[in-house]
Amino acid sequence: MGAVCTTLIAGVEAVRKGIAKPIGSLTQMGTIRLGKRTEGKTPLIRDFVPLAKLDDIVFAGWDIFGGNLYDAAKTAEVLDKETLEKIRPYLESIEPMPAAFDQHYVKRLTGTRIKSGKNKRDLAEQLRKDIQEFKKKTDRQVVTWTGSTEIFLSPTAVHQTLAAFEKGMENDDPGIAPSQLYAWAALTEGIPFINGAPNLTVDIPAMNELSRKMNAPICGRDFKTGQTMIKSVLAPAFKARMLGVSGWFSTNILGNRDGEVLDDPASFKTKEESKLGLLQTILQPELYPDLYKDLYHKVRINYYPPRGDNKEGWDNIDIFGWLGYPMQLKVDFLCRDSILAAPLALDLCLFMDLAARTPSLRGLGIQEWLSFYFKAPDSAPGVYPEHDLFIQSMKMKNTLRHIMGEDLITHLGLDYYGG
Ligand SMILES: NC(=O)c1ccc[n+]([C@@H]2O[C@H](COP(=O)([O-])OP(=O)(O)OC[C@H]3O[C@@H](n4cnc5c(N)ncnc54)[C@H](O)[C@@H]3O)[C@@H](O)[C@H]2O)c1
Repeated sequence: MGAVCTTLIAGVEAVRKGIAKPIGSLTQMGTIRLGKRTEGKTPLIRDFVPLAKLDDIVFAGWDIFGGNLYDAAKTAEVLDKETLEKIRPYLESIEPMPAAFDQHYVKRLTGTRIKSGKNKRDLAEQLRKDIQEFKKKTDRQVVTWTGSTEIFLSPTAVHQTLAAFEKGMENDDPGIAPSQLYAWAALTEGIPFINGAPNLTVDIPAMNELSRKMNAPICGRDFKTGQTMIKSVLAPAFKARMLGVSGWFSTNILGNRDGEVLDDPASFKTKEESKLGLLQTILQPELYPDLYKDLYHKVRINYYPPRGDNKEGWDNIDIFGWLGYPMQLKVDFLCRDSILAAPLALDLCLFMDLAARTPSLRGLGIQEWLSFYFKAPDSAPGVYPEHDLFIQSMKMKNTLRHIMGEDLITHLGLDYYGG
């Protein structure tokens, strides 16, 4: 219940009360074209697919710090005091449950309200109990990890099968991070799980197995919000025009708690890996060696407290064109991290709830059609993830058409001209 989560919950309540509009949320504001362009059919997505209504959403969560959501939102310093005051009683009514936490995985935080148990399995079972209580008050559930970035973990033997993972929890295997205990608890309860952080969490065979077994969809990782969102728009543009890229230097300053956590090299490594992968996949240097084989890509994140949640991201991009002549592009994005992330978290909850009710999707495990929302999307083994924002957007909208039995749109369009 940090910056992203409090901004999501406070934002949903502000929208419900008519105080503000859900800008940035595709499920609330987006439309979808159906049929041919001449038919003029573009309903709102929320009228087209049966999504849960904002009025029906109930929130609960965990954190390692005590205090209600009003206090947590004040600490996060994303929304102004005036907005928070208008919804204060609602925010004060939500109190995080004690967390399953281990400082080994998030070095910069010291928990004050954490569960104790004899091993990781025991902690995960306690999380299951929390979820079971919440189930009694609600019809359907989705769990989202908006917790901190954990240290970098690579898959090991303990992640390969569900049996190995469950044994590993009993043996306190160091390869199992707290975020994975939440994921295991949710999936075991048959509840979809979204990973908004760059953590390994559900991108392992064991979670895939559990997800398929329980018909509880999974997706992740790392909300695609600021700099990486812009990158996944610009890089496809260069490639579409066959322009070369020799260097891409990205740096950020941010001063929120996430920035503080990322100041630890082990957590930064997790974030760095998640931010680095996309250029290789989008630009395909193996297919276009003359354009991209020497690309130098560097990503930096600097913790700078005065900026709080208002991150600034700079990109210097060295490109080259006709006959190899060099050019440069500079991007300076003065963004607000959690203002960009909150609508993505909302859309993902609503779409994952829909996926869990869709027979052709719920048994698939990873929901690749939601890669639109992630920096380093989880994908099926052997399939490279799609990073180009516009391909991701088309894929998602076609999946919605598929769910509702509408014709998919290929953008061929010959029939408008008698073809
Ligand atoms: N803000 C963005 O735009 C953005 C974008 C992409 C990804 N993310 C990722 O989303 C995550 C959350 O970001 P944020 O800005 O809200 O950070 P934050 O530090 O404000 O919030 C994270 C919260 O998680 C809590 N936490 C840590 N470990 C926990 C555990 N084991 N159980 C329960 N709670 C735990 C922390 O106490 C904190 O309150 C981070 O991993 C971040 O990298 C954020």
